[in-house]
Amino acid sequence: MNLHIASAAPVNVADYERLAHEALEPGPLGYFAGGAGDERTLRDNIEAFSRWTLRPRMLVDVSAASARTSVLGTEVSMPLLVAPTAFQRLAHADGEAATARAAAAAETIMCLSSLATTTPTEVAAAAPGAPRWFQLYCFRDDGVTRALVDEAVAAGYAAIVLTVDAPVAGRRERDLRSGFALPPEVTVPAIARAAGKPDGMSVAEVFALVDDTLTWRDLERVAGMSDLPLLVKGVLTEEDARLACEHGAAGLVVSNHGGRQLDGVAATLDALPEVVEAVDGRIEVLLDGGIRRGTDVVTALALGARAVLIGRPIVWGLAAGGEDGARDVLELLRAEIELALKLVGCPSPDILERAHAGRARG
Ligand SMILES: Cc1cc2nc3c(=O)[nH]c(=O)nc-3n(C[C@H](O)[C@H](O)[C@H](O)COP(=O)(O)O)c2cc1C
Repeated sequence: MNLHIASAAPVNVADYERLAHEALEPGPLGYFAGGAGDERTLRDNIEAFSRWTLRPRMLVDVSAASARTSVLGTEVSMPLLVAPTAFQRLAHADGEAATARAAAAAETIMCLSSLATTTPTEVAAAAPGAPRWFQLYCFRDDGVTRALVDEAVAAGYAAIVLTVDAPVAGRRERDLRSGFALPPEVTVPAIARAAGKPDGMSVAEVFALVDDTLTWRDLERVAGMSDLPLLVKGVLTEEDARLACEHGAAGLVVSNHGGRQLDGVAATLDALPEVVEAVDGRIEVLLDGGIRRGTDVVTALALGARAVLIGRPIVWGLAAGGEDGARDVLELLRAEIELALKLVGCPSPDILERAHAGRARG
């Protein structure tokens, strides 16, 4: 593997995080690692997993155990997908194309960000035939939103993931302190083209285009922009979970944007049970935020998630080793999920149930 830093081979996500910290300049590192405000939610996303324990069952035949499952009808090698993260060329010159190839090799779904530094068409061409979703921000100019959806449809993306927790960008103080700005070579070509803007837009200029008037009533209209299923990303309450179901979402992602939007909201794992109860099996519930271990995945599934997504771990893999690094992160997590399933006495993620998780004491 072509890692930037010659050291013992990384064996887990934390190792990749350390390597990425060494590989990245302070500005991009703060952008990727940081959260909003005092970063309480950022930390809590991870700490929440230690508030739960696994309740393994013994003497179960796990000889044929596998992490394989399906998400929204698509077969995947594991219940772990790649979350949309913006500006991946800041992490590695190969950017989103490398992530797409890594996800394809790991046989899982990549969700491409609206704020990608590579167009949806180019990302699709980097890994033809692999399943992909497109994350959408709605723009004030409906034409920009439609142009992005049309490009995603034409390039064969299988679902639209509408992010609803970012009508404006959160206050990320690491970026304010570092004076972080996108370098000229890191651009958002699909948005710039659709919006008729020059390629080199700043993060603030891009967010200024986002529609902060969007309401639940607009959901059907956005869903109607294509025939693709629509997932709503950024739900944290039972109230919004019900609204997502009522307004025709095919799935939802319990997410707080990796602690980057409203600081002080619940860790996603803590929000998951009320959302699962409100959804009551009507649509698939996914979760992201703080997933760093296979055991985290098993805990989230026991609490009712169909699958999880990872944001920063992929960025760390990409920064440390490009496509190989991102792929290794996915393979390490897949092996961890399989091991956790075997040791928890569950030959398939599909049969994990609430009784496999319990509250930690103390
Ligand atoms: C650097 C960075 C950029 C992100 N960009 C986007 C984005 O463009 N669209 C989006 O919906 N979510 C975005 N997210 C949120 C992720 O999709 C995901 O919710 C979050 O990273 C999950 O938490 P984790 O990083 O702990 O895995 C971003 C997250 C990070 C860390």
